[in-house]
Amino acid sequence: MNLPNRVQLIDVGPRDGLQNEKQPVPAATKIELVHRLQAAGLTEIEVTSYVSPKWVPQMADNHEVMAGLSRPRGVRLSVLTPNLKGFEAALQDKPDEIVVFGAASEAFSQKNINCSIAESIERFAPVVEAARAAGMAVRGAMSCTVGCPYEGEIAPARVAYLAGLMKGIGVQRVDVADTIGVGTPRKVQAAFEAALQHYGIDDVSGHFHDTYGQALSNTLAALELGVWNFQSSVSGLGGCPYAKGATGNVATEDVVYLLHGMGIGTGIDLDALVDAGAWISEQLGRPSGSRVARALLARRAG
Ligand code: HMG
Ligand code: MG
Repeated sequence: MNLPNRVQLIDVGPRDGLQNEKQPVPAATKIELVHRLQAAGLTEIEVTSYVSPKWVPQMADNHEVMAGLSRPRGVRLSVLTPNLKGFEAALQDKPDEIVVFGAASEAFSQKNINCSIAESIERFAPVVEAARAAGMAVRGAMSCTVGCPYEGEIAPARVAYLAGLMKGIGVQRVDVADTIGVGTPRKVQAAFEAALQHYGIDDVSGHFHDTYGQALSNTLAALELGVWNFQSSVSGLGGCPYAKGATGNVATEDVVYLLHGMGIGTGIDLDALVDAGAWISEQLGRPSGSRVARALLARRAG
């Protein structure tokens, strides 16, 4: 075991979490959520995406949300940009990091971004170049690294192939995403080992949806490899519009509880995070998806 003593979390709730909300969520609510996450000690937050509003209407307020944010020093805000049109729109809002997003599965690439894996890399290449020239960091999300809603199980070799393509165009770090939450620890480790053929351990992160309740186990499996960057969503918000039935990311509260319980630092104040999660759950009119938050709130009430 090669456990890290510190973990860096990216809260993707405002983007991955809220992108799938059917009810309109006002920009002011998204802005306040980001501020509450900052106050709880999150130093990396995935805020929004610059995609077609016809495909993902919930993210159409990207400019308004970004313009409304306070940007404390030391906080990195990231946004999704699938193509040059998205990047040019993002540029005016000065994100710290942009995210290009591809898939290890051909079918998911087609459904999600309407092009093949090879075409996606052609689209990403000028985006990566422009972002680097503008002094922005570049991350690459790799969807369906263990399973795909259309193709079933995905072989690690396909993750290695995509990671190699991402590396080739200058993507600085990659997310190993289990988009539909079907992964189990050994399969997730195999996906990481494939990504690690092209990226160092500091440049890979885990992004686990919790559909099958495996995300915390998969987090531990990744920690055992020395992975120390993870993405999670406050309150377990979310789901993917192009992966039917997939639930949200693992809840940030649950990951923080796991890590702190193992003596691994995050810089996050769990109580303040639980408050942020309770607040957004109330705004959305439903209970928190975080088991830890529900337990801590019940303990407080009792
Ligand atoms: P397309 O239709 O192939 O693009 O969409 P196009 O270039 O042919 O353009 C068609 C129309 O879209 C045009 O408008 C463009 O202007 C417009 P029209 O002339 O018809 O009015 N358009 C855009 N508008 C705004 N922003 C843009 C943009 N690009 C074109 N950037 C595109 C390609 C990628 C845009 C489309 O497929 C799309 O928006 N897809 C949505 C993808 C998405 O947001 N998915 C969810 C996020 S990924 C995810 O959740 C997974 C992740 O969490 C990791 C994991 O869990 O696996 C990251
Ligand atoms: Mg996701």
